[in-house]
Amino acid sequence: MTDISDIPAHIGFIMDGNGRWATAKGMPRKFGHEAGARTFENIVESCRDLGIRYATFYAFSTENKSRPKDEIDALMLLFDRYADDIFRRIKNGETKTYENVRIRFVGDLSYFSEKRRKSISDIENINSDKEIRLTVCIALNYGGRNEIVNAVNRFISANPGKTVSEKSISENLYAPDVPDPDLIIRTAGEMRLSNFLLWQSAYAEFYATPVFWPDFSENDLKKAIESYSKRTRKFGGISK
Ligand code: IPE
Ligand code: IPE
Ligand code: MG
Repeated sequence: MTDISDIPAHIGFIMDGNGRWATAKGMPRKFGHEAGARTFENIVESCRDLGIRYATFYAFSTENKSRPKDEIDALMLLFDRYADDIFRRIKNGETKTYENVRIRFVGDLSYFSEKRRKSISDIENINSDKEIRLTVCIALNYGGRNEIVNAVNRFISANPGKTVSEKSISENLYAPDVPDPDLIIRTAGEMRLSNFLLWQSAYAEFYATPVFWPDFSENDLKKAIESYSKRTRKFGGISK
């Protein structure tokens, strides 16, 4: 890598292309989601080992609820299986992937059953006493607009009659202590945010790759970081 000192502190991943990856192989879309879940684990490990402090993974958007029921059911089943598996592996010390990793969830979790919310909070709490090198946020039933509306409503109900400010919105987001993303990576060639981290990505650098998410590798991640490290971020100012 050209400039290892310029590692982004927070990377957002729009994990796209699972369906196309499976279709290209003549397989049902759910195989793509299963392969995508394996890529998620590989990239979690890579992020931790490369010194990334925060990584947010877009797993299921508020708009993805408009997909056919059988696809949503397959995604939820996959999530439940993974959630149990991750919890068991961490609890039994069977996984290197989640060593020194903290997992959190962002999104409107009220949509999920009590059982699913319980497994979410079990996972969020399991590594909390360990030394944390990487915080992983999984965006589930997440929408950027929904998050902003929710933040405004939370602020207003706690502070009736007060005016909303940028600070008050930031403080009421799903993960207010997580810094804004420096880099957003989208796979599968699309050049859009699709309602991901709208508030937080105001000055994020954007990187798109044609690689479908199931094929996204540590090498692809390094290429994205290399591209990021060559950019000049100006935040509205003038280059030095
Ligand atoms: C991303 O892959 C995963 C989710 C949105 C859940 P897609 O399912 O969007 O895959 P494509 O875009 O149809 O190929
Ligand atoms: C974005 O991908 C959402 C996730 C990766 C979870 P989509 O496949 O839903 O986005 P669009 O529909 O192509 O914009
Ligand atoms: Mg897609």
